[in-house]
Amino acid sequence: MISVNPFDLVIFGGTGDLAARKLIPAMYHRYCAGQLPEQARIIALGRKDLGREGYLEAISGKSRALITEQYFDEERWREFAACIDYRKLDAWSDEDFNDLAAYLQDTQQRIRIFYLSTSPDLFTGICQRLARSQLAQPDSRVVLEKPLGRDLKSADEINACVESVFSEQQIYRIDHYLGKEAVQNLMALRFGNSIFEPLWSHGKIRDVQITLAEEIGVEGRGEFYDSTGTLRDMLQNHLMQLLCIVAMEPPISMDADNVRDEKLKVIRSLQPFTPENVITNAVRGQYHAGVVDGVPVPGYLQEPGIDPDSRTETFIALKARIDNWRWSGVPFYLRTGKRMHDYVSEVVINFYSLPHAIYPETEGVDSTNRLYIRLQPQEAVELHLMAKQAGDRSVLKPVKLDLDLTGQNERHLDAYERLLMDVVRGNQTLFVRRDELNAAWEWVEPIMNTWEALAKAPEAYAAGTSGPAAARDLITRDGRTWIEDH
Ligand code: BG6
Repeated sequence: MISVNPFDLVIFGGTGDLAARKLIPAMYHRYCAGQLPEQARIIALGRKDLGREGYLEAISGKSRALITEQYFDEERWREFAACIDYRKLDAWSDEDFNDLAAYLQDTQQRIRIFYLSTSPDLFTGICQRLARSQLAQPDSRVVLEKPLGRDLKSADEINACVESVFSEQQIYRIDHYLGKEAVQNLMALRFGNSIFEPLWSHGKIRDVQITLAEEIGVEGRGEFYDSTGTLRDMLQNHLMQLLCIVAMEPPISMDADNVRDEKLKVIRSLQPFTPENVITNAVRGQYHAGVVDGVPVPGYLQEPGIDPDSRTETFIALKARIDNWRWSGVPFYLRTGKRMHDYVSEVVINFYSLPHAIYPETEGVDSTNRLYIRLQPQEAVELHLMAKQAGDRSVLKPVKLDLDLTGQNERHLDAYERLLMDVVRGNQTLFVRRDELNAAWEWVEPIMNTWEALAKAPEAYAAGTSGPAAARDLITRDGRTWIEDH
């Protein structure tokens, strides 16, 4: 077991959904795994005057519901909860920060982690007050939740302010997709084996499809979502990070900057969008009323907190190209949306078909070799191959090679568990550097600006489907189909 130094995890936005649903359960699991040192403390901050007991009561329903029954133990939960405290804090009040500093005075020698799980508008104010109240120390770390800003300019302003208080080595820009087990597996597959490297390029790979499809809608986050949209919520971060992991060159080592240098090169090699090719190579959609999993659901415009004339997108599909030696001519089809037909997140690598078929009886069978890196609903890595059917005839059938070596009964760590412990240990490999973030904003801005200037509303799609018809056209035009249409 890797030991860690005592730390204080201070959560701004402690009463929010992320804290209750992800951060607290993640810490509980690490506690049960024996990874939290005895003196570790979690200090949740919020505007409400809840008191410690009131806070625990407010979050424990949500937090406990997120811990699978098999792993929940009442006694362990009680022990774990003893390290949680709650403090009322107004993010605009210097006095409240001074009070917090006095409260943390006794544990000044520890690693302090400030987790900013608030609206990005508050990031600069919080960092300035952390500096003024001398809470920010050389051994402190600050974690910034996405989306960081609304565009390159606002992201740059926030980053400049955060960097006036913390050095880049103290800043952890989180993208929880990078902490998912399947993403780690993809890296292990690519960089821990020799057999994939010769296959990992143009000439061998025909196309790559990355889909992040959700069945849920905006889930009580109407106001946030309506001012954010899918591009800022999912494309600029999660989808682009996955694209980087698939396409990056092997780094010199797993050292944080070596990995991030390679991801940055991918983003910089992405063919820029122009207003003309946004129209042809990108589709935005918005869901209407429909049926998801047999249950009728309202359309986006009828959801609480949504402007009835909103043009905010709830779906995106696009074709990206990476202009470098390895990926020349290989299309990357990216797609993400709310209220889709299924809850599925996956990267699919489609290899070229055989140049010449010698098994005639296999005609009509989809014999494409594919590598699936599945993130949801179950994390898995599968290689789809053709093998001979048993019997005296030479007939082939598709078979799946399960490359996920985690035991069936082993728990997959939740992304936040891994990432939070990486912050505690000071490992930035799975966190986004400022230049990467800027490059990602630069790439998505023409898409954002073109859509904003368009008189046309997003393409409609019924909830419970695979998105608007235009998304299908985007790929069929190239003689290909989305993976679920095979
Ligand atoms: C978050 C987005 O970053 O990721 C949400 O803000 C989205 O809108 C979520 O639902 C998806 O994460 P996961 O891990 O459930 O796929």
